[in-house]
Amino acid sequence: MGKTWGKNGEKPYRHAAHAMIYAPDGKKLWDMYENKAVILMMMRFDGYIGFPGGIMDDGETVEFGLNRELEEEIGLDPTRHSFTKEDHVLSYVTHNKRLLLHFYCKKVTLEECLEIEKRTIDADEYGWEVLGPIRVPMFTLNDNERGLPIFLSNKFIGNAKEELLYCIERENIMTKEEIQLALENCEKFKA
Ligand code: GTP
Ligand code: MN
Ligand code: MN
Ligand code: MN
Ligand code: MN
Ligand code: MN
Repeated sequence: MGKTWGKNGEKPYRHAAHAMIYAPDGKKLWDMYENKAVILMMMRFDGYIGFPGGIMDDGETVEFGLNRELEEEIGLDPTRHSFTKEDHVLSYVTHNKRLLLHFYCKKVTLEECLEIEKRTIDADEYGWEVLGPIRVPMFTLNDNERGLPIFLSNKFIGNAKEELLYCIERENIMTKEEIQLALENCEKFKA
């Protein structure tokens, strides 16, 4: 797929794809706060939190490029967990960065998710493009701040935060109302 040329020979638009891998959880923190899912994000080299993935090289299809980036960045074994069109969630254009962004999501078992997470520090890009795996706290403490609300006050690359919240609702991990409450609480303590 690679380059898509703009009008009048402008800088080409590029395809990029990122992915959310998650597993339903249910483990209770201090027997009190149920963690709804293990969701894998990462600390990027630039200090932003984002999802693994990247830009397609010339001639690559989106899924091929995504699987290559996932192998480079988190050591995902393509023979075991390969992203296909069925995992596609949404696509959109960002004109300022001249990117055609594609987002994917895959549900795996908790056991598989922990295995995937363990492999991340052996990935080629660990210590370079990727500074480490991050789990999203999928619970909120009784003060209504700690947990997901505080997590959402981090800096996210591009639309990674919106993609995270969109998938949490789409995959029925949390309801729209629960997500809205976490966002409101996030704004409240920031003020
Ligand atoms: P290089 O190999 O260094 O080119 O990086 P890469 O191919 O891994 O690209 P990267 O993952 O940085 O993604 C390219 C661009 O996509 C970034 O500059 C961001 O603008 C955007 N981006 C990165 N991660 C995400 C994400 O999780 N969600 C969204 N929406 N955009 C992202
Ligand atoms: Mn302690
Ligand atoms: Mn990369
Ligand atoms: Mn990347
Ligand atoms: Mn790349
Ligand atoms: Mn790279």
